[in-house]
Amino acid sequence: MKVFGKPMRTIWPTADGEAVEIIDQTKLPFDLEIVCLETVDEAAKAILDMLVRGAPLIGATAAYGMALAMKNDSSDASLDYAYKTLFASRPTAVNLRWAIDDLKAILAPLPADARNKAAWDRAAKICDEDVKMCSDIGEHGKELILQAYENVGKTRTINILTHCNAGWLATVDWGTAIAPIYKAHEAGIPVHVWVDETRPRNQGASLTAWELNQHGIPHTVIADNAGGHLMQHGQVDMCIVGTDRTTWTGDVCNKIGTYLKALAAFDNDVPFYVALPSPTIDWTLDEGRDIPIEERDEIELTEVRGKDANGDLHTVRIVSEGSKGGNPAFDVTPRHLISKLITERGVCEASKDGLLALFPEQAQ
Ligand code: MRU
Repeated sequence: MKVFGKPMRTIWPTADGEAVEIIDQTKLPFDLEIVCLETVDEAAKAILDMLVRGAPLIGATAAYGMALAMKNDSSDASLDYAYKTLFASRPTAVNLRWAIDDLKAILAPLPADARNKAAWDRAAKICDEDVKMCSDIGEHGKELILQAYENVGKTRTINILTHCNAGWLATVDWGTAIAPIYKAHEAGIPVHVWVDETRPRNQGASLTAWELNQHGIPHTVIADNAGGHLMQHGQVDMCIVGTDRTTWTGDVCNKIGTYLKALAAFDNDVPFYVALPSPTIDWTLDEGRDIPIEERDEIELTEVRGKDANGDLHTVRIVSEGSKGGNPAFDVTPRHLISKLITERGVCEASKDGLLALFPEQAQ
C-alpha cells in the first residue's frame, strides 16, 4: 500500500540479498523508521518486541528469519536453532508455526549447500502469496460491503467497526480485515471506519488510523468501550476484524477485546465478519479454548507513550505505583457469534463444514 504516496510493503530483502528490512512499527504513527535484520536472533527479537506484528507478517518475518539463519550457517544444528528460536518468539499467531514448518520441510531434506538459496526463494514466495491472499480477501469482502451499500439504497456511507490492526501493516500488503475496505474505497463505495483504539498497545489508534490516513479513508478513532453504544444506536453497519488463529471448527482467536465486540454485535444484529488468509487456520485444533493465549508484560498496560505539544515523545505511567497490571493479549470469540469468515477462497460459515467446503484438501 502507499506511504506518503509511494507503494511499500512491510518487509523486503535488501538489494544485495544479504539481509531483510522492516518497518519498525513501535515507532508509528510518529516516525517511519526502517530496521535491518541480519540474523535469526534479530528476526526473533523483532517479532518478540513487536517491531513487526500481526499474524501474517509474523509468519513472513519468521520465514525470512529461517533464511537469515541459512545465510550465516546452513548446518542441521543451525536449522534446528532457527526453528526453536523463532517458535519461542510469540505463541498465539499460528502463521508463525505454519511458516517455519513449511521452511523446515523444504530445507531439511536438502544438502546444506543448497539450503541458503532455497530458504530465500521460499521466504520471498511466502510474501508474494500473502499479498495475493490478502488481495483476494479484499475482493470477497468488498462484495459484503457492496451488499450493505445496496441494502441502504446506496443512499449513505457504510460504517464499519474494526478492532486492533488488521490492515496492511499486519500483513505483507493489503491487510486482512482492512483489505475489503481498501477495495470498497477503490470501487467508489463510501465507507467510514470506526477504529477501536485497542488498549493496551493501541494498534488501532497508532497503526490502523495511520494507514487509513495514508489512503484518505474516512475514519474515527474510538475508545474500546464505545463500540457497543454505537451499535445500539444504529451507527455500525458491520464489524470486520482479523484473527491470529482460527480453529478449523470456526472459533476465532484475535486481539483482546474482540470477543466483547462480537457479543455487542450479536445483541444488536450487526454482522460480525472475520477476515483471514488460510495459513491462519489451525487444522489441528477443535476448540478455541485450547489456543495458547500470550500473556504480555504488565508495563504495556501501566505505561503509555505519546507526543506532547512540542512534538517530544514521552512514556508516562498511568497506574498507581504498587498496583499490578494483567495483560492477556488475545481472546477467543466462539463460532456462534461470527456471521461469516472471509478467506482468500471466498466467504463461508464459521464452522467445520464452512471451512472444509472452501478447503476440501484438508478433509483427511
Ligand atoms: O499483538 P499483535 O499486534 O501482533 O496482534 C495481532 C493483530 O494484529 C490482531 O490481533 C489482528 O486483529 C489479527 S492479525 C491480522
